[in-house]
Amino acid sequence: MTKQNQTRKPAKRFNLDIVRREWDIASNAYAHAQLNGLDYYRLNFFGPAMIDACADVKGLEVLDVGCGIGYFSRQMAEKGASKVVGIDISPNQLAHARQIEEKERQGIEYIEGDAATVIESVPETSFDLVTACVSLVDMPDPERVIRGARRVLRDGGRLVFTNTHPLTDTMSREWVRDAEGKKLGLQIADYFDETPFTLTWMSDRYKYRFQTTGNNHTLQRWMRWVIQAGFIIEDFIEPVATDEAIAQHPGLDDTRIVPTFLIIVARKDERVKPRTD
Ligand SMILES: C[S@@+](CC[C@H](N)C(=O)[O-])C[C@H]1O[C@@H](n2cnc3c(N)ncnc32)[C@H](O)[C@@H]1O
Repeated sequence: MTKQNQTRKPAKRFNLDIVRREWDIASNAYAHAQLNGLDYYRLNFFGPAMIDACADVKGLEVLDVGCGIGYFSRQMAEKGASKVVGIDISPNQLAHARQIEEKERQGIEYIEGDAATVIESVPETSFDLVTACVSLVDMPDPERVIRGARRVLRDGGRLVFTNTHPLTDTMSREWVRDAEGKKLGLQIADYFDETPFTLTWMSDRYKYRFQTTGNNHTLQRWMRWVIQAGFIIEDFIEPVATDEAIAQHPGLDDTRIVPTFLIIVARKDERVKPRTD
């Protein structure tokens, strides 16, 4: 049995400056992979699953936190949202998003800043849907963003987010393979270790290697943050790649061995109040 190289290490620091700097550096490679169809995990797997989880967005006002180069913001506009606002801390990520908006006008507004702070300046009850596509996991204070999301949502509005799955996105994780290199299972450890880690993106899908720092908290932590913020969890999805997606990109077959992403759909009900316990 062989094991893949370790690409994670405990982070020296995890703060807004680091996050901004790392995503600024990552941005060209990240955008290149997305815009040239190389990021097939997103384009053929968790992206479509996240879009499905948002259901009908026609006429909705959507706030997309940690929008990056605007992938999910554009999806929401394309599916008929009447207004889409994206927030991201990385000027370079937003430069790509704005460039695309210039070329293919969808009326998306992009705001630069820390989502946790910006969301607190957004008028109360002014959106129907808050989305976060693999971004809360990269934010130093996701709980504050989740609480902020409830505040900006109208009664009955939803928070829908996807993250890499906390059970398998741990500091220590190694694919266990057979002699031919076929993935057999994933060995994980340190599940309860909530130290932020720096991940080196080594795949040849990216033009150059880059590093980003994030913190995948335990599943319990994510669920409690959502519940304590005053949301009702309406759906919890562990997507697997479709047969069609796997036929196109055989690498996606690992999504059927262990859960790789989760999607949470949480609804605001005015009668359910935030708690601090
Ligand atoms: C993995 S990328 C996801 C981007 C986009 N949602 C997508 O699906 O491509 C994470 C993004 O979160 C942004 N981010 C991290 N911390 C942030 C914060 N505190 N406020 C706003 N954006 C943040 C990063 O700059 C980066 O663009």
